[in-house]
Amino acid sequence: MTQDAPWWKSGIIYQIYPRSFQDSTGSGMGDLNGITSRLPHVADLGADAIWISPIYPSPMKDGGYDISDYTGIEPLFGTLDDFDRLTDEAHRLGLKVLLDFVPAHSSDEHPWFQDSRSARDSGKRDWYIWHDAAPDGGPPNNWISEFGGPAWTWDDTTGQYYLHIYAREQPALNWRNPDVADAMLKAMETWYERGVDGFRVDAVEHLTPDARLRDNPTNPDWHPKDGPARSLFRTFTSHQADLFAHVRAMRSVAEKHGRKLLVGEAYGNLDEVMLYYGANLDGFQLPFNFELINAPWHPRGIADFIDRYEAVIPPGGWPNWVLGNHDRDRIATRVGNGQSRVAKMLLLTLRGTPTMWQGDEIGMLNEAVPDHMLQDPWAINNPGTGIGRDPVRVPLPWDDTHGRGFTTGQPFLPLSTVPSVAEQDGDPASMLSFVRALIALRRAEPALSFGSYERLHADNGVLAYARTAEGKRLAVALNFTDAPQPLPVRGKVLLSTIHDRDLAAVDELRPDEGVILEP
Ligand code: NOJ
Repeated sequence: MTQDAPWWKSGIIYQIYPRSFQDSTGSGMGDLNGITSRLPHVADLGADAIWISPIYPSPMKDGGYDISDYTGIEPLFGTLDDFDRLTDEAHRLGLKVLLDFVPAHSSDEHPWFQDSRSARDSGKRDWYIWHDAAPDGGPPNNWISEFGGPAWTWDDTTGQYYLHIYAREQPALNWRNPDVADAMLKAMETWYERGVDGFRVDAVEHLTPDARLRDNPTNPDWHPKDGPARSLFRTFTSHQADLFAHVRAMRSVAEKHGRKLLVGEAYGNLDEVMLYYGANLDGFQLPFNFELINAPWHPRGIADFIDRYEAVIPPGGWPNWVLGNHDRDRIATRVGNGQSRVAKMLLLTLRGTPTMWQGDEIGMLNEAVPDHMLQDPWAINNPGTGIGRDPVRVPLPWDDTHGRGFTTGQPFLPLSTVPSVAEQDGDPASMLSFVRALIALRRAEPALSFGSYERLHADNGVLAYARTAEGKRLAVALNFTDAPQPLPVRGKVLLSTIHDRDLAAVDELRPDEGVILEP
């Protein structure tokens, strides 16, 4: 298994949000040359791949997830030459490069949509999803945009509504039109030919919303804090049967270009997520598993989920785990600083490929964002609710100079309040030093990346499990509480979340402590 395994099975993926990683021009927003200059940070951390959120031309109505040219580079971020340099440098440092592919919608400024909306008989009309008004003049059905409000916008020029599962500036592409599918697969090929090693595929559950446009049922358990979109079940907008043929087509293009990696973003229950592996493992190699983001922070509940997840992964399929991303509250904000080390130990010792979100390695927190700086359409459309993703997207603090080493200009979002990379770099007790040590241990021990998983213990305070490979067994014991807890498995302790711990004298778990040991 360890010999012939593809890189991503033992690999660690590090997500970069280009706007907030590193600015190289003083514009206040990150860019490609900035990313290139900071790649050594990612390599030193011990990651194997970067996934870069969208870098294509975009009016930036949804942070680049509204694309107006699938094969270009957004001028704010740089040029294709800059991109080639970034890829070369990443490869030189041993890092794979994954781009973000956003198939379900384009920008309303994409020439395809401009053409489509120009006339009912436009050659591109059917590239998007247009429909007559309901008899009362309202939208064709009850679907709600993920960002709030109807999922349909009226277009005066041609007198019909168009569908947008997200912002109105993100019209849904019609994947039932084979020309759309062809054009999108060609865009993927263009990037493979340029040297990228795979894609994270965005919002794929929305690729083929119900052709009959049936109403989504109401969710009786809805709470307003979950945002308007959750007031309906997504019965007819998500995971529709005919999208999986497109997933398979993406995979065959990936295979044709040398077994490239596809990581799929599809929010759903376990059964739904499993569909994306493909009936013959011919779908995504890694359909994202978001449970560590969604689950209450409780050892028994998480242990039960791990068992359920391990049990349903199809034979030959490979697990994966995610602790945070640009859409969800920061882990250190969700569980607190102490637990955030425990969370990282969990992420990096479970069986499966971990994806790390930029800045979690230094314990970044959600930061307050004043109204006048809001960027996120979700926040802008839902004022006063506290909904929004800007707080998790503030720039990485690299050092303690003006602009915290991120920019020499005015940052597009407020700066972070946590100690910088430079400050943590020299501090053996820092979060950064801990994460580096954790990853180094994971890389040194095949049991931690390839090993089998076995639950050893789970109660209200502690989760413990064993990982075994090549005849070597390691155990992980995690205290999910801020009180001391009994250590359910004894052995030689290799690493603790607590920096100055005497590893020879661990006989209980201290508050917020996790350990890796050799029983
Ligand atoms: C999921 C992305 O992660 C999110 O940031 C974006 O707003 C939506 N998809 C729409 O593309």
